Amino acid sequence: MVTRVSRADAAAITDAMHCLKAGGLVAFPTETVYGLGADATNGRAIARLYEAKGRPSFNPLISHVVDVTAARGLARFNADALRLSKAFWPGPLTLVLPKLVECPIAELATAGLDSIAVRVPNHPVSQKILKAFSRPIAAPSANRFGHVSPTTAAHVVADLSNRIDLIVDGGATPIGVESSIVACLGEPALLRPGGVTREAIERVLARPLADPPGESATADDAPLAPGMLASHYAPLTPLRLHSLRVAPGEALLAFGPIPAEGAAGAASVLNLSARGDLIEAAANLFSHLRALDAVRAKTIAVMPIPREGLGEAINDRLARAAAPR
Ligand code: TXA
Ligand code: MG
Repeated sequence: MVTRVSRADAAAITDAMHCLKAGGLVAFPTETVYGLGADATNGRAIARLYEAKGRPSFNPLISHVVDVTAARGLARFNADALRLSKAFWPGPLTLVLPKLVECPIAELATAGLDSIAVRVPNHPVSQKILKAFSRPIAAPSANRFGHVSPTTAAHVVADLSNRIDLIVDGGATPIGVESSIVACLGEPALLRPGGVTREAIERVLARPLADPPGESATADDAPLAPGMLASHYAPLTPLRLHSLRVAPGEALLAFGPIPAEGAAGAASVLNLSARGDLIEAAANLFSHLRALDAVRAKTIAVMPIPREGLGEAINDRLARAAAPR
């Protein structure tokens, strides 16, 4: 299969719509990362999607819909879920909710769970494709399983070229880390930190988020957010976290001002945000990881990054990228 790459104009949106209707696989930008989309109601299309990503089929997918009304056709919203959807949709929040009996999503897309992950993205290209297709689109991040998520069309080409039908190129994704995932099945729990900060979510709920059950999920468990496998988002080069200076030959992933001599002897240096801005750092995270990985240094040393705000999601992704595998 030869993958077409198109700039995100009106013709590309129509192409994407026809392709999805035919059961094809279309990568497109969301505000967080590029997604690999398939018709969420078409079991064969979902099977192709798992196959293209090389993803274990126990790992359920997020169904993307155009608005809250469409989401309410898939899942049951309690008061917390309604409040969160009003505050953050369209936007970088995914809700895990009880699946409605009449939910038309293919069983394979939810990996047989009785809950479903739903999100309304706010990127104009995602919105246009969802409107044109007018059905839910299942879309994991558009990378090979276990790789870092793509934030540009070029990243998608590198991972999935000739395994999918179409890549709609809408430029770099503005947020750069995946959506926050909140389960509203009982007490709202943060399953994955992401583009909406914990602080913002807790403000809307007017109480603290619960921790996910089974925090230290490994491949052998059946974790609640199965994508939260300890080793995930992995570059090939090992990472050394919380480093204030590089060892000779290491690559340096910096954050904020680099201490004097901190980068001496580095094979390569990239700064997530020289001015120490967490939003800018999130947007650069995956592309900088990919670029430093390509240097093939012995190790990538990573400077400390504060844990507040988007720093929670950034530290989470770095810890996973550094986990033994
Ligand atoms: O920002 C994002 O969320 C991107 C863009 C494309 O929307 N998508 C994304 O999808 O990151 P993916 O498949 O890479 O991650 C989805 C996560 C996985 O960890 C999966 O296990 C979890 O959502 N998930 C999906 N359905 C679930 C469910 N019913 N219960 C718990 N976790 C679920
Ligand atoms: Mg992913």
